[in-house]
Amino acid sequence: MCGIIGRVGTDEAIDTLLTGLENLEYRGYDSAGVAVQNGSGIKIQKQSGKVAELKQAIDSDLLSGEVGIGHTRWSTHGPPTDENAHPHTDSTRDVAVVHNGIIENYATLKSSLQELGHEFESDTDTEVIPHLIQYYLDEGASAETAFRRAIDDLEGSYAVAAMVANEHVLYAARQGSPLVVGLDDDGFFLASDVPAFLEYTDDVVYLEDGDVVVVRPDGVEFTTLEGHAIDRQPETVAWDPEQAGKGEYDHFMLKEIHEQPTSLAQAIEGRIQGDEPGEVALESFPPGAFDGIERIQFVACGTSYHAALYGSIAMNQCGIQTSAHLANEYGVSAPPVDENTLVIAVTQSGETADTLNAMRRAEADGARLLTVTNVVGSTAARLADDVLLIRAGPEIGVAATKTFSSQAVMLLLLAQCIIDDLDGTCEDRRALYNDLSGLPDTFSSILEDGTAKALAEQYLGAESYFFIGRGLGFPVALEGALKFKEITYEHAEGFASGELKHGPLALVTPETPVFAIFTGDEDEKVLNNAEEAQTRGAPLVAVCPAGHRAVDIADAHLDIPAVDPDLAGLLANVQLQLLSYHAADALGRPIDKPRNLAKSVTVE
Ligand code: M6R
Repeated sequence: MCGIIGRVGTDEAIDTLLTGLENLEYRGYDSAGVAVQNGSGIKIQKQSGKVAELKQAIDSDLLSGEVGIGHTRWSTHGPPTDENAHPHTDSTRDVAVVHNGIIENYATLKSSLQELGHEFESDTDTEVIPHLIQYYLDEGASAETAFRRAIDDLEGSYAVAAMVANEHVLYAARQGSPLVVGLDDDGFFLASDVPAFLEYTDDVVYLEDGDVVVVRPDGVEFTTLEGHAIDRQPETVAWDPEQAGKGEYDHFMLKEIHEQPTSLAQAIEGRIQGDEPGEVALESFPPGAFDGIERIQFVACGTSYHAALYGSIAMNQCGIQTSAHLANEYGVSAPPVDENTLVIAVTQSGETADTLNAMRRAEADGARLLTVTNVVGSTAARLADDVLLIRAGPEIGVAATKTFSSQAVMLLLLAQCIIDDLDGTCEDRRALYNDLSGLPDTFSSILEDGTAKALAEQYLGAESYFFIGRGLGFPVALEGALKFKEITYEHAEGFASGELKHGPLALVTPETPVFAIFTGDEDEKVLNNAEEAQTRGAPLVAVCPAGHRAVDIADAHLDIPAVDPDLAGLLANVQLQLLSYHAADALGRPIDKPRNLAKSVTVE
């Protein structure tokens, strides 16, 4: 996810562009850049780091002009370096482009252009676009035709804005990534999202896939790729600029819960493939990549630890020797480590001090390091021998939501590669991978269910909240409780369901609702444990598919679609995320920034 801003007006563009980038920074903050022109060529300033750093470095006199584009990046192709920052240009510097999305055929386009003598400066997929425009300009096409032809060559998803030197025009196109036009008295804006320019105007036109727009100081043309005019009517958005970063949601957490169908699709994209349904292909891990590994240790903290435990249990169930460790305890409790040990660090931010320390300790003992993270170029990514990106997009809410589901799915995919290499016992997992491909849609169906909100309100004021599960339901029980306590400030605990009778049952009263997670694996045992609590007066909520035996026994039901047992816990977790969110909302808690917590914990 990246942020795009564009401006064509009658006044200097630079301040408007920088404000727009600041407003879009929630979409990515690895690097930022702007390009401006005033009839004497295109001037560009871009660098790695946040928009504030770019702003400090900018010489506004050099970047004088009424037409400009800007970009804040969330890296997908290539690390967050100055070279990879947008805008990107062609070799003549007469074309500048910003892009959000993924150009799937960029490698083919790039090698064709290289054969024609085009020289590239970045690792990005985006850089092919200005070179394509240049190629068509060199063939004698007008700037507009060159832009349309270049767009026609692209496969994948994109929102693109481009300008050509000495033309007072912006060209833009949308396919699969958002783009909106803002209209004010002095000109026009282009942006990935309305908050970019909400200080200036609330009159907008949302572009649709396939739209191409040509923006001049005196008007905007909305057309098809072929150039046929299309009718796009402006509308007025009723958004308060402060709220707008959250889109239609009251909190980033709720927005991010609802983004999971998209973040999961991004995590999976291109990674389940092959002739056989269910074949997994992970970048950097061809068959045999894990040969020689004798044991696997996961290190992580908080929610990431719960995802790590999920991955560890899934691998253990397939005969792979793994263990999951709280990174802060790893130094005192790690089993032996040697060069045949793979240590997998799971960390959304890639900057958690406890996790980094565990990695450094494992590295000192000769282990091979693999980081599963959301942040390209983070310290954990740089420390490791290999990196797997979960591609969840920026997560602003302190409570981790979409990154948990993406981490768990990533680990299930990784599990398959490891199982194949190390001759694990689960050979045919096609049903699982078929369900995985459909997971984004399955998540969407849960997000429409209002039961979690109703139950959150019904049980508000309880003494304590218990979450229980077995197997892959156990890490979900831990995660459900962590989320609940983190944002509601109410007491909550997660247990392995079989552990209730070994002590926690003493706490159970009619004031302690118990949420039991059924994954389809040893459900009878979970139900027995849940009934032991219910018998002692606890209200029992069954998190399971409709038609499950537990629904008849429980006092309430949170529904999840029936899927492979390896995935059911992730569906249950969405219901529990909603439960926590609505309980915290009803209690008036500051959901996105819970007291005493931080998004990234960089101290031990
Ligand atoms: O960035 P990390 O994934 O390494 O962060 C680890 C924990 O601090 C984090 O998961 C924390 O528990 C969550 N914010 C809880 O929602």
